[in-house]
Amino acid sequence: MLNRPVELYRDTLRIIDQSRLPELMRYEYIYTLREGIRAIKDLKVRGAPLIAIFAAYLVALIAIRSKEKNLKRLKTRLHRAIEKIEDTRPTAVNLFKAMKEVRKIVEDARTRDELIYNLRKKAEEIDEAEKLNCEKISDYGAALFKPGRKYRIMTICNTGFFATNHIGTALGVIYKLHTEGLLERVYVPETRPLLQGARLTMWELSQNSVPAVLLTDNATGFVMEREKIDAVIVGADRIARNGDTANKIGTLNLAILAHHFGIPFYVAAPFTSVDSELSSGIGIPIEKRDEKEVKWVRKCLITKEDARAINYAFDITPNFLITAIITDRGVFRKPYNLS
Ligand code: MRU
Repeated sequence: MLNRPVELYRDTLRIIDQSRLPELMRYEYIYTLREGIRAIKDLKVRGAPLIAIFAAYLVALIAIRSKEKNLKRLKTRLHRAIEKIEDTRPTAVNLFKAMKEVRKIVEDARTRDELIYNLRKKAEEIDEAEKLNCEKISDYGAALFKPGRKYRIMTICNTGFFATNHIGTALGVIYKLHTEGLLERVYVPETRPLLQGARLTMWELSQNSVPAVLLTDNATGFVMEREKIDAVIVGADRIARNGDTANKIGTLNLAILAHHFGIPFYVAAPFTSVDSELSSGIGIPIEKRDEKEVKWVRKCLITKEDARAINYAFDITPNFLITAIITDRGVFRKPYNLS
């Protein structure tokens, strides 16, 4: 039985290093802000809800481990830490929402002990809230599929245990369909360049005996048609009020294909991924990562050393391509007005 991807463990933060899975299943112990920041940037910890959970625990950890007895100086240190954590990955709004809540705890604390206690409590609350969100999303999502037959579902990236610390969002719906005997098979694109589909989703599904097949990203169109996929379910990193959704690069391709083939395209995400300050997807900041991630597959250079590459980590799917958004507050349909 695996421990959770992120957990406070004594006076450290224990994580599963997702960057090395599945060839190496390794726990890593985080002691410092610097290590925590590296873990987020290097995708040892990833997935919108999990980044937020980890960040909240990280601030608590810094406070717990700090030798600073002076409350004002400790608060200054924590505010700086929060700024640095917010600077790691720009797209998933969950991180910024969690840090806003954590910042308030820091501001309001009257003693050092109260500060440490409340930071830890807040991190645990955020973690627990995402557990409930995942469960509700799974229930609402599975209820969209009529009993009496089995469904073929395509997804992308990883939206399960490794992305949420709990059952998952899009993958949570898929697990629930499996439990109810409504799932025939999951189709998992590898999700280049960092292969979250191949490395994490395939691994997670096989651990749970869920039937799944892996495909290359460029096979999604043909497979969608030839294998008669019934629905596509994806996660989200940031959803604007009008439903425009940022998610892992390649999601837009799936949405366009689903539209072409007349297949429902569902986004499954907690309300913690909704950015109510954004009226549309235009303002969503899209992370651009190092071109090395495209040029190298693990330790193998797959192009000329001096080739230029472009590496957007996310794309934005316009609302009109989304059949419904499955959230912890229910299922929303067009015209979206999420807030
Ligand atoms: O770059 P990643 O692996 O953090 O991207 C993750 C995704 O795009 C997920 O689909 C999204 O965060 C939802 S996770 C429940």
